Amino acid sequence: MTERITWTSRWAFILVTIGSSVGLGNIWRFPYIAGTQGGSAFVVIYLFFVLLVGIPLLMAEIMIGRRGRGNPADAARNTATESGRSPWWSLIGWTGMIGALVILGYYSVVAGWIVDYFWKMLIGMRFDSQEVAVAGFAALQANPIELILCHSIFMALTVAVIARGVVSGIERANRIMMPALFLLLLLLTLWGGIVGDMKQAAHFMFDFKPGDINREVVLSALGHSFFSLSLGMGVIIVYGSYFKRGSSIAFASVWVALAGIMVGLLAGLAIFSLTFGYGLEPDSGAGLILQTLPLTFAHMPGGRIFGSLFFLLVIFAAWTSAVSLLEPFTAWLVERAGLTRAKAALSAGLFSWLLGIGVCFSFNIWSEYRWFEKNLFELLDFWSTSIAMPLNGLAVAFFVGWVVRRHVARDEIALSDRMFKVWQVVLRYLAPLAILLIFAHSLGLLA
Ligand code: TRP
Repeated sequence: MTERITWTSRWAFILVTIGSSVGLGNIWRFPYIAGTQGGSAFVVIYLFFVLLVGIPLLMAEIMIGRRGRGNPADAARNTATESGRSPWWSLIGWTGMIGALVILGYYSVVAGWIVDYFWKMLIGMRFDSQEVAVAGFAALQANPIELILCHSIFMALTVAVIARGVVSGIERANRIMMPALFLLLLLLTLWGGIVGDMKQAAHFMFDFKPGDINREVVLSALGHSFFSLSLGMGVIIVYGSYFKRGSSIAFASVWVALAGIMVGLLAGLAIFSLTFGYGLEPDSGAGLILQTLPLTFAHMPGGRIFGSLFFLLVIFAAWTSAVSLLEPFTAWLVERAGLTRAKAALSAGLFSWLLGIGVCFSFNIWSEYRWFEKNLFELLDFWSTSIAMPLNGLAVAFFVGWVVRRHVARDEIALSDRMFKVWQVVLRYLAPLAILLIFAHSLGLLA
């Protein structure tokens, strides 16, 4: 077997995986879902899922990738056959690879909105009343050309990084963007604390009110914990396949989860401080950071610079995540269809780009097409986050917990016997049980 390319170090792996994990999920999705799902109830349950289910699943996916050494489908198959199991387990890789491209389709459209706003801040556009801010966002949604243009720019950036390869593309992009992102985020949180209302933001996010917990909150917290850790889509499997043997999988997973939590909380604090500081409501939905924040930027000292920096940060975060969504299928095209990396990245990108164009239309000329009362954008988001990711997570947990032989897993997961047991118990019972219960609840099977 030829030597597989690897990240240059253990920390490089941790960095790129944090890069995948930290994205629109933390900065756009987390605040708006927390804002509409009662704040702290959602936040607390989300943290609980990340620690209890997220970390063990991260470890499971990294293990499959590193053991199977290949794109998600081959990695899952190799790991299965090594344990004497059916090669059909490659299916969990397949659903992931396809799912990742579907997510990228709408992810890139949302990232395009950010590109659009970054530009608008830079040229000094001001959204100085609620009407202007809301109308500004609505005008963007109503304009398919502008949406498609920004979506295309973002997709081109993503394809460009992937085409350059694993180390000189993905790793290098992350080495530049992630430190910049952390720095900007700290700066912005400080700024938010000075000009905004951090106290109220902290109350909103952390005052635990058990009465706010309901099915929807729990299901969306579980879905979001998967989304924000990039789980269930083969992404972690393929990143893990470039992870050096001998480095600790548990160590890396804990770091990735903690960094994701930290960025989400910091971004939430910054965003809600501003939201409350300027007397706005936190539950405006998907447009939260695009309607509420530009309004606050227009009124704060240094708002134009602040606003530009903020959107630049979001672009960085989204870019390193989008790259990770494109990698699983690109790796398959290179390894199985014999394409060059550049051609593979372009072909996979083309698929997501076309889907994204449909998403751009779903806000305007196709807005009356609805399935289950959802337009294409909402449908893709719901399908991937609330259905495909948890189900795939369930399959991964089952696979690693029950199907992979103990000595194979033991070989990769270098933990003390006791910690290894804990990990296995979570994968075998706790994670599947949690996912199944919540599913049954959401389908109305449990009263
Ligand atoms: N985790 C990223 C975010 O929070 C999005 C993402 C990247 C993702 N790769 C993924 C989500 C794989 C699910 C699966 O923005």
